Amino acid sequence: MLLVKLGGSVITVKSKYRTLRGPDLSRLARELAAGAGPDTIVVHGAGSYGHILAAKHGLSEGARDAAALSAVAQVQRDVRALDLKVLDALLRARLRPAAVPPSLVMRYHDGRLVSFDVGPFRDYLMRELLPVSFGDVVMDTKRGFSIASGDDVILELAKLFRPDRVLFVADVDGVYTGDPKRDRGATRLDVVDASAMGTLALPNEAGQDVTGGLRRKLERMLAIAKHARDVRIINGLARGRLEAAAKGQDVVGTRVVA
Ligand code: IPE
Repeated sequence: MLLVKLGGSVITVKSKYRTLRGPDLSRLARELAAGAGPDTIVVHGAGSYGHILAAKHGLSEGARDAAALSAVAQVQRDVRALDLKVLDALLRARLRPAAVPPSLVMRYHDGRLVSFDVGPFRDYLMRELLPVSFGDVVMDTKRGFSIASGDDVILELAKLFRPDRVLFVADVDGVYTGDPKRDRGATRLDVVDASAMGTLALPNEAGQDVTGGLRRKLERMLAIAKHARDVRIINGLARGRLEAAAKGQDVVGTRVVA
């Protein structure tokens, strides 16, 4: 099995509310159609369809007052709007996507996952459809609501399916020793593991990322790597890499090992 996470920074412009990177999304869908086998699940991030409003209303800490509850409704609508764009792109590439919204299959308690219904994923796969899930606002039995990132969904799927390959499609070539967008001396690592994590000068992402920025994402990838044979971060903005990686080829990127 292959799990693919299309990062919100590749399919959207992360700083501009509800702004799609349409041509990149279409190309990535075509690359998936060309490279991925039948046993594949796609999960996408929320990018500017989720993080901006969720950060403004502090939704990762829950939602109780009227303004926050309205924001929950709006973010749920927005991430579905993005999901429809992803489904459209996959359909145009002649795949058979079927949406599995986390808000219907995941429950949280105080910010922690307490239940995950894998049934719809399994059922769609059995019927030769391509399950597509995404970062979403989910119900939390203590806080009202929580944010489930696409990476959280991938972690649960990895535990249950133990995939051969997990591809994190990002807007950079992999993990660097510093911030590649600011520090010209930063070099890309071929492999990153738990011991390498401590030595990295990861970009400071206090800003608008409600699911924790690169450090949290890397920690989750390390957890995912315990359940998958091969976990990689690749650049989805570089043409052809997703297709090649989906075929199992060794492309420029960073391998994450447990
Ligand atoms: C975020 O999901 C979900 C919401 C903000 C509702 P992700 O954390 O997976 O999204 P990206 O990939 O960082 O954009």
